[in-house]
Formats: sequence, structure tokens, C-alpha cells
Amino acid sequence: MSRPLLSLLNIELPILQSPMVGVSTPKLAAAVSNAGGLGAIGIGASTVEQARAMLRETAALTDKPFNVNLFCHAPALQDSDREAQWLNALTPYFAEFDAAPPVLLREIYISFVADPDMLQMLLEEKPAVVSFHFGLPPQAAVDALKDAGIVLLCSVTTLAEARLAEQAGVHALVAQGFEAGGHRGVFDPQQDSEMGTFALVRVLSAASSLPVIAAGGIMDGAGINAVLQLGASAAQLGTAFILCPESATNAAWREALKGPRAHHTQITSAISGRPARGMLNRNFSDLQISGAAVPDYPIAYDANKALNVAASAKNNSDFAVQWAGQGAPLARELPADELVRLLSAEMKV
Ligand SMILES: Cc1cc2nc3c(=O)[nH]c(=O)nc-3n(C[C@H](O)[C@H](O)[C@H](O)COP(=O)(O)O)c2cc1C
Repeated sequence: MSRPLLSLLNIELPILQSPMVGVSTPKLAAAVSNAGGLGAIGIGASTVEQARAMLRETAALTDKPFNVNLFCHAPALQDSDREAQWLNALTPYFAEFDAAPPVLLREIYISFVADPDMLQMLLEEKPAVVSFHFGLPPQAAVDALKDAGIVLLCSVTTLAEARLAEQAGVHALVAQGFEAGGHRGVFDPQQDSEMGTFALVRVLSAASSLPVIAAGGIMDGAGINAVLQLGASAAQLGTAFILCPESATNAAWREALKGPRAHHTQITSAISGRPARGMLNRNFSDLQISGAAVPDYPIAYDANKALNVAASAKNNSDFAVQWAGQGAPLARELPADELVRLLSAEMKV
């Protein structure tokens, strides 16, 4: 089952490391790829020059393939009334840290669907694999990347999204279940089916001719074997790699993942403007009940980042982003190459 995908990706093990903006690094991606899996970097929140530097840094650390991930959300619609109301609702939280909210919110990064310069950079640098989250880029971008010999993956959360990805011509589907940490790849958050990994992998492998890569709640060899048994060709793990020393995860996030808070994850759109799963803190308990409409993704993120800066200045991490999936209590603190070797050994038990 795995072989066609492994030869397409030119890797040895059916283990992919999730691209994770803010967590994955060139060192992490290279360590996973050098160990026989597919490492990944996320450039969704980067400028073209930052992205190019990250690609080159990764390529300097491995001669193996790695995945470069982009955000393909519908471009944000600025709505000054909604944003002002949101900032107004957040004002008391800023005040707790003797700070005032920003006067205006910005679209802090642009979608790949409206970024021809990023496409040009990818066509010049030619990474082996490119993946899309939140949707698909324009057909001309898909075609240009394919013509350049790049293998394309797309996160999907339903069969309908899988059909769109298939029609666009991607090579494989990342079936992201509701258990998954971080942002849901759902194309339109108003139409979220909230399917779990188990059912989604089964539905997609029965109905699609494309290889399926399962993602969401997979933490060890038993989890990888289980999704292979369900019809997946490989597994993509994110939360399992957060504690690796090569990740960019900060100390408070690491501590939370190693403690009791790892047992309680939830989904909220109040942090960034799109649904994402993380460990509970005041981002979940306070912001969801504010009653104000959340600005578009990623405009809302600008407000949350400012609030976290204000809180962090007072040594408080109540509003920190700490994404994690439902498998969080099973995360292990190991160098990435050791973790990949352990996952592979566990698959053989
Ligand atoms: C901290 C974190 C950041 C993430 N960032 C991204 C991202 O930038 N791009 C992306 O396609 N997926 C991202 N994801 C989602 C992953 O692609 C994947 O669906 C998820 O890691 C699988 O679930 P798991 O975390 O339970 O293994 C992120 C996940 C986490 C945990």
C-alpha cells in the first residue's frame, strides 16, 4: 500500500513530519528527512525572502527530499467595524497587563493564492515536495509546480475537498482528522464536517484513487500501523515532534505538553480567525465568550499576537498559542532522528 507513495516522495519510511509554522525548523525537517521520513517546513506566514532562506537552510542540511508548506486560504476581507469591535472586546485583557490594544489590525501575511512572487521563488528553488493547507492555489500555480517536477500534497478534511484536490491534479491527499493539532485545513470553515481521522481515512481510501496520508492523533508506531491498516499509505505526525530539541517550541509550551494540560485540547477560531486545536488556556476560556465577531483569518491573529506580547512582558503565558492534537499526552522528548527510528522500530513490533 505504501510503496507507490514512498517511491513518489523518494523516501524510505511512511512517516511525514507535519509542517508547523512557528514550530518546525530547517533543522527539524532535515533531521526527519535524513532519518528516512519526510521532513517539512512551513512558509505560510513568511515573506518570499524569509521563505527562500528557510528552503536554502534546509537544503544545506539534507540532500534528501523535504516538504514546503503554503497557506491557501481565501484572502482576508478587512472590515474595520468588526475589527474595532474585536479590539474593544479585548481591551480589558490588555488592561490586565497594563497595555492598550493596537489601534488597527493588519493582514499579517498573505495567502499563496494571491502571491505570484512566492510561486516564482518555488519554481526557482524547486523543492521536491510542496503542500497546501486551507485550500488550493489557482490552477495555473498547480500546473506550473507540477511542470517543474514538484510533488504536490493537499490537506483535506472531507471527500468533497479530496475531489477538488484530485481534480486540480495533486499527487496525494493529507487526510486531516478532527483530532489533529494546529489549524484545521478545512477549505471553508463554515462547512466543517469535523470528521475524525479513522472515518476520514477509510472514506478517502475507499473513494479516491490518490494515495492517502493520515494526519491527526498519530503519536507512535501503533498509530502509524493502525492508519496503514485503514488504507492510508503513510502517516503525518505533528504533535509528536513538538518536543524535539530541533523544534522552535518555547519553554512554556513544552512544559504544558509534558503536564496535565496536555489532556485537554479544544478547537477555537478566536485566536486566528480559523479553527485550530490547542491546549486550553485563556485563549479558549475567555476569548470564546467575548460575544464579538472574530475578524477574518489572519487579521484576528494580529490581535492575539499583540495580546500575547503584552502578557509575555509580564511573564504570563495565559494567551500564548500552544497548538497540540488530542494525542498530546503521548508526545516524547527525543531528538528527531531518534524519534523517527523509534517510530519505525515500534511499527515492526
Ligand atoms: C503546532 C502545529 C502547527 C501546525 N502548523 C501547520 C502548518 O503550518 N501547515 C499545515 O499544513 N499544517 C499545520 N499543522 C497541522 C498538521 O499539518 C497536521 O494536520 C497535524 O499535525 C496532525 O495532527 P497531530 O498534531 O495530532 O499529529 C500544525 C499542527 C501543529 C500541532
